[in-house]
Amino acid sequence: MSDLFNTCLAGPAERIRFLRSELERHNRLYYTEAQPEISDADYDKLYRELEELEAKHPEFDDPNSPTKRVGGAPLDSFQQVRHLVPMLSIDDVFELKDAEVPQAELIDFYRKLQKNLGRDKVAVTVEPKIDGVAVSLVYRNGELSYAATRGDGTTGDDITNNVRTIRSVPLALADGAPALLEVRGEIYMPNEAFAAMNAEREEAGLPTFANPRNASAGALKQLDPKLVAKRPLAFLAHGLGAYEGPELESEKSFHDLLDSLGIPRNRPVWVSASLEDLLDHVALIDTERHGLGYGTDGAVVKVLDRAERNKLGYTSRAPRWAAAYKFLPEQKETLLRDITIQVGRTGVLTPVAELEPVFVSGTTVSRATLHNEEEIQRKDVRIGDTVVIEKAGEIIPAVVKVVLEKRPADSKPFSLLDHVHGVCPSCGGPVSKEEGFVAWRCTNFECPAQAVSKIRQFASRKALDIEAVGEIVADALVNRGVCRTPLDLFTLDQEGLATLNLGSDEEPRRFGEKNAGKVIEALEQARHKPLNRWLFAMGIRQVGESAAKELARLHESLKELAHITEGAVECSPILKAIHGSAVKEAEAKRISPSNKENPPANDEEKKARKEAHAALKAEATELKKGIASYKVSADVGQVVAESVLTFFESEAGKHVLERMAELGIDPKSENYLPKLEEADLSALPLAGKTFVITGTLSMDRDEMKQFLESKGAKVSGSISAKTDYLLCGEGGGSKRDKADKLGVKVIEEGDIKDLIPE
Ligand code: IVH
Repeated sequence: MSDLFNTCLAGPAERIRFLRSELERHNRLYYTEAQPEISDADYDKLYRELEELEAKHPEFDDPNSPTKRVGGAPLDSFQQVRHLVPMLSIDDVFELKDAEVPQAELIDFYRKLQKNLGRDKVAVTVEPKIDGVAVSLVYRNGELSYAATRGDGTTGDDITNNVRTIRSVPLALADGAPALLEVRGEIYMPNEAFAAMNAEREEAGLPTFANPRNASAGALKQLDPKLVAKRPLAFLAHGLGAYEGPELESEKSFHDLLDSLGIPRNRPVWVSASLEDLLDHVALIDTERHGLGYGTDGAVVKVLDRAERNKLGYTSRAPRWAAAYKFLPEQKETLLRDITIQVGRTGVLTPVAELEPVFVSGTTVSRATLHNEEEIQRKDVRIGDTVVIEKAGEIIPAVVKVVLEKRPADSKPFSLLDHVHGVCPSCGGPVSKEEGFVAWRCTNFECPAQAVSKIRQFASRKALDIEAVGEIVADALVNRGVCRTPLDLFTLDQEGLATLNLGSDEEPRRFGEKNAGKVIEALEQARHKPLNRWLFAMGIRQVGESAAKELARLHESLKELAHITEGAVECSPILKAIHGSAVKEAEAKRISPSNKENPPANDEEKKARKEAHAALKAEATELKKGIASYKVSADVGQVVAESVLTFFESEAGKHVLERMAELGIDPKSENYLPKLEEADLSALPLAGKTFVITGTLSMDRDEMKQFLESKGAKVSGSISAKTDYLLCGEGGGSKRDKADKLGVKVIEEGDIKDLIPE
């Protein structure tokens, strides 16, 4: 240990090698053996040292370095790899519903083994079936060579870059690795992480995953390994593929090899000597499986002896020596007493089934998420119904279906909007559902259920940058009743803020003078932050950073964008025009006499609609003409305009404007440039040039796009002969080939400055 942090004794190559193997060893100790030897801080120290050395010495680059686990450049597509040994599936045998002998199919499977091997007792292993994605990891001389999906069993996708981000996959094995070792196993998402991720997605209004397998498969399909690195995936080995090394006599020797090399493997694995044993072990797994860290819906049964496996052989799909026994998910009937609506931190209204408590798959369940209104309507779930519930992926309680025979006569279909009387159940604010989304949301900037997340957004670096107000402080401010809305921050005084308790009542922790001072100062600066940051800070739906910038380009101040006249909010003419033209066009389309979904009933109506259609079209064109010279970018389209209008025109929006006026805050634009004349545009250095961007750049692609557009360029998504430049970042493979074929000039980030005169 003494030379653990000693960099000077060894040359860089040697030190790098040492650090890599040391970090991998600690990784194994942590993830495979759960016996860490050093603290997280010491691990980080080693990691940082390696990172620095690697930056200084790119000549020693290695894709299997522990520093590469954060994920490299995105791919355009996955390469195909041919499996060294076919990667087969296993045949399922099912537990039977309402059968006299529910295990009949499993018994059949065992009888076949007995018959084919000509013996009564056939030793088999039994282990839980992991609800994950099959993967093949190929190690050559102890180094991860590649990782692949099953694909069609003969060839799969090369997902090495994605798999490298998974901490429990060793990138290098412990000493004593054979020349070639192909480990087969599952990539899965641990139960807790899966539940947490789904809860987050639910909150954000994103579709949730039905089970951990879908979540893992979705993650592994990502072409950008950095996204995969953010997903909490894990790996467990359960089988052997290609192998060159000392002979492995039994499954036991194989398991010993995995353990000695630090490869995590699936547990428990029971050895059953007879049919009775097998049935006992399968039953054991069924009762204990809810306590495993991963989702499982069955048990895998494999013949123990390798020679016997060879004798039994394979069908075209699967080995004859293995079977996956699928348990029936436990289902219970219970009464749906009520549907309550939860308002999440981001304002999403989630319906929740309040159930008569029942015991299912290991726990008592009294609530189950109903996800969203669409889901309720699809299943026609009504209050007072008797419903069947089970745990999706054996983890999350879900309503499977309604028992219609038990439906009360007076029940009514459920409507979320009626149920909440059209307003947010937390604050009474306006709710809306965006087109293409399934979730209703509360759009009130001052909704208390959203107070913490709104304050976080308000204070975040890209918004008003009030650094000292992080998650913990925002939480304390709201929960201790100091702030109900972000604008309440401006009423804080330093002394009061210094006494804010960030800890618990038993163990208080004062915020302190110094931190309080920082917040007050940052708030003073925030008053003068530009309009685009204020718009972004307000957390208006659809208004991200670029839309906020574009809105600020079009308006001199918040007062110009939205102001109160005679008690009502007026928004700027340009916003109204953007929105109005879109509304008129949509209406024109709807009433058009050639609309097949809404055909006119007779000639008379046809004529009237033709006229009305033409009039609407003309109005839309007129509105568009009025704003044409503003060259409004796509960042402020109809959807953004509508969201901004809705926000400011609501009672809540009006209240925000009033409070800002009281506080004497009227943010001004720093990039106000309302009309770009044609002449100005053509004078820009990249006017008339079309760019396509691919690969990873030093900045966000959107940022680069904005930059190029600000210089007059057009940025397109796909390459054609009309493209002038392909701006190629790290890893821009297939587009680069296409550019070469079409003779499009390929440039790198550094070349851009040459195209723009000072
Ligand atoms: S052994 C010849 N053991 O389930 C294939 N597979 O439905 C031998 N799986 O393809 C596979 N947990 O991807 C085995 N403990 C386990 C497993 C397991 C999950 C997967 C595996 C297999 C699929 C078949």
